[in-house]
Amino acid sequence: MSVPSASLRIGIAGLGTVGSAVLANLQHNAERFHAVLGRRIEVTGVSARSRTKKRNVSLDGIAWFDDPVELAASPTIDAFVELIGGAEGPARKAVETALAAGKHVVTANKALLAYHGLSLAKMAEAENVALLFEASVAGGIPVIKTVREALIGNEIRRVYGILNGTCNYILTKMQEEGASFDAALAEAQELGYAEADPTFDIGGMDAAHKLAVLTSLAFGTRVAIEEIHCEGIEHIRRADIEAADELGYRIKLLGVAQRIDGAIEARVSPVLVPKDSAVGEVSGVTNAIEIEGDYVGDLLLVGPGAGAKPTASSVISDIVEVARGDCLKPFIVPAAKLRPHKKATLGAHRGAYYVRLLVHDRPGAMASIAGRMAEHDVSLESIVQRRPRKSDAATPAKAAANNTMQLVLITHDTVEASIRRALKLIEQDGKIAGRAQMIRIETL
Ligand code: HSE
Repeated sequence: MSVPSASLRIGIAGLGTVGSAVLANLQHNAERFHAVLGRRIEVTGVSARSRTKKRNVSLDGIAWFDDPVELAASPTIDAFVELIGGAEGPARKAVETALAAGKHVVTANKALLAYHGLSLAKMAEAENVALLFEASVAGGIPVIKTVREALIGNEIRRVYGILNGTCNYILTKMQEEGASFDAALAEAQELGYAEADPTFDIGGMDAAHKLAVLTSLAFGTRVAIEEIHCEGIEHIRRADIEAADELGYRIKLLGVAQRIDGAIEARVSPVLVPKDSAVGEVSGVTNAIEIEGDYVGDLLLVGPGAGAKPTASSVISDIVEVARGDCLKPFIVPAAKLRPHKKATLGAHRGAYYVRLLVHDRPGAMASIAGRMAEHDVSLESIVQRRPRKSDAATPAKAAANNTMQLVLITHDTVEASIRRALKLIEQDGKIAGRAQMIRIETL
């Protein structure tokens, strides 16, 4: 294989904590990369919102561009590194400009890929340039290269994992320290884990973006964010975390994509997992991804899913791959041959469920609930009833005033549509206060 001997000239757009860490790493490793690659990696241009912001990295000798799109089009670069973020706006425009101008692109932007991955891959292939995005999924964990390269000989049956560090951090703090949701989120923001708009984290969208990218790579399908079912952790209460704990489970926001009868079930949602399962033991901002392949078996990748240095580590691996000059197609399969994402109906999902109800403490309430479950063929594995603590209810004052009991049910395997129908009727029957809490129990 022949590698061009001239320097690889790169432009970096976005000099936040990740961009600065990328620049610092390239400066630190300049001689090592030269030795490894036989060519230099030279940062010739940068662009960011503020030119005057204090950064712990030298910009000496690097051209400054106020406009990232101008940097993307500049003849002074061969590769464009996009660290701006966002599915639209300057990030999209700059990446499209760079690809149209025949530049390689490295991006950490999961939202951009989730919405426009297919069209960007087509552009990259038409120009015969690289489009690499290792940092877009699970920060410092090299999951994209693992699927693209190391597992190329496998048919993947299922991929699942903790894909959002902020949510895992919040759930861990609630679990281990009894922290409130809001306090734990504020800490995650202070530590720089959360998205600029943290509702993307807690609402599950950040994980859904990542799962959309992983699903495409794992199953050879077109990236399709609209086919990913997405629920966040906003409705999880300490009562759920405590009840799950008592029953031997942890609550995790999990992204799961699996083949089911020729279709793909892809969903992000809080789920119960056994405490002693691999993902159950992953705490804090750490991410974990399990990949089930027909040859490799079950593979678990665990590591930092957010933060400047881990994310920069992945960006650097892509830049070095571009410099090596032997990139695969963005989604392994040529974009034109990626199959449509055929979505499995979630109503047909089969599994066990956790249900928490605040039941009006009156004669017949329990019998009525059990009756609705039986009507819909939902069999119960365990029932735990107790007086709710103040922290249990979405509206604790009301729970106390209404004289309610907390009822936690674990079902045997059942069909999701059935339990949803049963719970809807239970809500309508007026035997419970507020909404029923239903959480899937993941079979791992
Ligand atoms: N906000 C993201 C997270 C950062 O918490 O995982 C990495 O994408």
